[in-house]
Amino acid sequence: MKFIGDQIAIGNIPVTELAAEYGTPTYVYDEQKIRANYRRAYQAFAKHYPDFKMFYAVKCCNNPAIVNIMRQEGAGADCASVNEILLAKSVGLSGENVMFSGNFLSDSDIRQGLESGVIFNLDDISILPRLLKFGTPEMLSFRVNPGYGKSNVGEYVTNAGPGAKFGIHPDQVMDAYRMAKAAGIKRFGAHMMTGSCITDADYFPFVTGLLMDIIGKVAKELQIDFEFIDLGGGLGIPYKPGEPALDLEKAAEKTAEVFRKKTAEYGMKPPQLKMEPARFFVGNAGYLIGTVHSIKDSYSRIIGTDIGMNVLARPAMYGSYHHIYVNGKESHPRTKLGLCGQLCENTDFWVKERDLPADIAEGDLIVVENAGAYGFGMSYQYNGRLRAAEVLVNGDKSMLIRDREQFEDMIRHTHVPEYLKK
Ligand code: LLP
Repeated sequence: MKFIGDQIAIGNIPVTELAAEYGTPTYVYDEQKIRANYRRAYQAFAKHYPDFKMFYAVKCCNNPAIVNIMRQEGAGADCASVNEILLAKSVGLSGENVMFSGNFLSDSDIRQGLESGVIFNLDDISILPRLLKFGTPEMLSFRVNPGYGKSNVGEYVTNAGPGAKFGIHPDQVMDAYRMAKAAGIKRFGAHMMTGSCITDADYFPFVTGLLMDIIGKVAKELQIDFEFIDLGGGLGIPYKPGEPALDLEKAAEKTAEVFRKKTAEYGMKPPQLKMEPARFFVGNAGYLIGTVHSIKDSYSRIIGTDIGMNVLARPAMYGSYHHIYVNGKESHPRTKLGLCGQLCENTDFWVKERDLPADIAEGDLIVVENAGAYGFGMSYQYNGRLRAAEVLVNGDKSMLIRDREQFEDMIRHTHVPEYLKK
């Protein structure tokens, strides 16, 4: 966290100014930090494997301004739905710069996905015959579930392994590519997404080996020249103070080493290496500014803020830790306090006990750290507490990139039948 004296700043702007201008709760993203994160990750892998491309997983933070920053940096877009494809297109990303990795797709998703002309990444073998009814894509990828998954977001975020709903079982992968080849598809890629928020560098080369042992056999037996192999996202960030960060250089070097070794072992023409991280780019570049509105002394002391579980869902949903700073009071003596939002649910009491400045008071600003990833994107309207504003900061400048929701947004698209109005 950046301080000017005892005041917290984002970019060069004190949070007091941001709160005065935009109100709270507000998500604030530091553009320079996002760009620096992207470049660091890109260079780490490209240094060891120059034919490297990164796709930004739009679900992580889907503000078009953020997706534009990614595009300017050279990223493509990983999309989970047709609407995310439309979002990617709206910022100028299309064709092979967009990957569609939806799961359990409807016929309409499949048809629109095909018509959109992006790279289709099928999550199951059963989707292939349904896809072929609508047409034959030039290029196709399958999402493989190599039987192993990991996550630092608790047991709730499981992207692969026997307990996950994602990807194709290793035993079905050969048949999937055989069917696709027989259907006349000419160009192929392969994909996996086995974990999120991984800070263990050894995980990345390990899962790369698992995928390559499955895909290498397919390449050999079916004589397929894979054009790309996508290792998914998962580059982790530390959330708790003192938690070790991912050794990115080690992860990149070892992953490229395994990738090269395995492609050689299976006699593959070296494919493009792809990854689609998201949290690593925007996670620590996003902050959530809130206000302390009310303090209750009951069974314990509870600090009531405007950051409810609808604004930041992760703690209530996964038990995730987010560090909280109190503006102007970080050096003050601390005591154990609880902290909550304003919703009528007890999961909204998202900090049960934490060392916070003992003199925290009504009107203080709090700043929640590492809120850029899966923050706004997972927020919702509940109890008439609406979604936050989003602001982009670049050095001394701040720009509103999403309006705070208003009452009209809460009732937009609802319809009251005439007879109910009588
Ligand atoms: N690719 C695919 C297909 C994905 O499903 C995801 C995230 C990513 C890439 C990006 O993963 P990352 O680099 O950000 O780990 N809501 C949870 C995280 C769920 C991850 C969903 N998939 C959280 O708040 O921690």
